[in-house]
Amino acid sequence: MNPREEWQLATRQVGRHVLLFDRIDSTNKWAATLAVDANNHGVVVLAHDQTAGRGQHGRRWLSPPGSSVLASLLLLPPPALRRPVLLTAWAAVSVCETIRKSTGLEANIKWPNDVLIRGRKVCGILIEQGQGTVVGIGLNVNQTADMFAAADLPLAGSLAMFDGCSRDVKEIAKQLICQLDDGYQRLCDNATEDLETCWKHRLGLLGKFVTAECADRCYSGLLREVAFDGLELETPEGEIHRLPPEAVRRLEAV
Ligand code: BTN
Repeated sequence: MNPREEWQLATRQVGRHVLLFDRIDSTNKWAATLAVDANNHGVVVLAHDQTAGRGQHGRRWLSPPGSSVLASLLLLPPPALRRPVLLTAWAAVSVCETIRKSTGLEANIKWPNDVLIRGRKVCGILIEQGQGTVVGIGLNVNQTADMFAAADLPLAGSLAMFDGCSRDVKEIAKQLICQLDDGYQRLCDNATEDLETCWKHRLGLLGKFVTAECADRCYSGLLREVAFDGLELETPEGEIHRLPPEAVRRLEAV
């Protein structure tokens, strides 16, 4: 199948080559097939419509044709950048920054990889690692509240729902790709502090009493630190728990 459009953006790594398809099963699936060729590092696959969009935990990702950014980036990162927490933070922060720049709206990150505006999920991120790393992003742009109600998604939202503006999805996709490219370059240059600071801020949980769900048990306490190196919780009894971010499945204020 041939793409409807191909773009060559003036970026450094992500989006120098972008393939925009009319209708494919899943942009993540398509991007993964490109991993056989190292020259495809940074290729972005976009779709107007997906017939089998993949969500977290094996769920489907549904989105009416043309209503949202459906993007998958193929990366062949150096070993130091293959940490899911780094890639997730980079993708989520890039989405938040794109939203702020294109709408003025402030978004926050719900651990580990959802982006919310006023409590409604506007973006989901799915990172799949195989031969390469595929970062899939679904950003809801123009859906109405009625569309989400009809799809039985009462906690979902789109950019349009918060300011009534309908936007050019391709323009938002380009802005997002440029933002991602900028952040990726900084990761490659080892400049992770800015990302960590933005991630902490957008998570908005520091200093709050939280519950962290890990595979073996749940930990509750005051969140004293959130960093790529670890989370630090202090229980009411003064006990300190240090948790690697990759071990934390859910993190919520209580
Ligand atoms: C989630 O469940 O929150 C993650 C959803 C990720 C959806 C995006 S849409 C573009 C890309 N292609 C897919 O098949 N999934 C991701």
